[in-house]
Amino acid sequence: MAKRKSVKPNFSMCVQPSFIIGTNNEDGSANFAPITWVSATSENGDEYLLVISMFGTKRTKTNVLRTGIFSANLVSTDMLPLMDRFGSKHATEKKDLTCEVVRGEVLDVPVLDASRWVYECEVAKTVETGEATTFFCRIRNIQMDERLDCKDTFDVDLMVLDPVIYSGRYHSLGKSLGKIGDFL
Ligand SMILES: Cc1cc2nc3c(=O)[nH]c(=O)nc-3n(C[C@H](O)[C@H](O)[C@H](O)COP(=O)(O)O)c2cc1C
Repeated sequence: MAKRKSVKPNFSMCVQPSFIIGTNNEDGSANFAPITWVSATSENGDEYLLVISMFGTKRTKTNVLRTGIFSANLVSTDMLPLMDRFGSKHATEKKDLTCEVVRGEVLDVPVLDASRWVYECEVAKTVETGEATTFFCRIRNIQMDERLDCKDTFDVDLMVLDPVIYSGRYHSLGKSLGKIGDFL
């Protein structure tokens, strides 16, 4: 057994994925901010919902509450400078951030050209817990890197996506270990 120690329950470490959320500002310009409280659930079989949680007051939250739509752009390791810049700048100072922005294929949302996996999402349900707002969102479209060849929805080669994994620190993947059943 691993040797563990009990500590104060003030960690939120869940081996988080890294996404940059793209939303429309009221004046039509694009806003981007990193959000790592992101997970998934299912409504019906393979009708998945993206679950995304935002704390406090931020432009991204205001935009999602107003428009009900956003893009979730998976962050690969080459996008870390964008992640840091969007995360540390206040919304009003983000105008000077230059990066290639395109529009969604299905929803009218700003999308980061650099991202290898993009969800275009529409809010289905909103849950407030104190200062946090959690959005359960229908996935209206997925744009995936053309190099991916997924035989089914469980067959996604993360090595192609090279995602940033977040725990408070940034990490990258080590190696692919196999698939479900390989360790029976
Ligand atoms: C690595 C990283 C992860 C973050 N994850 C979250 C998160 O999961 N939820 C959240 O509410 N804020 C998160 N933030 C904070 C927002 O990105 C930050 O408040 C940002 O400035 C909001 O910008 P906006 O006002 O343009 O929306 C994260 C920031 C960083 C740098």
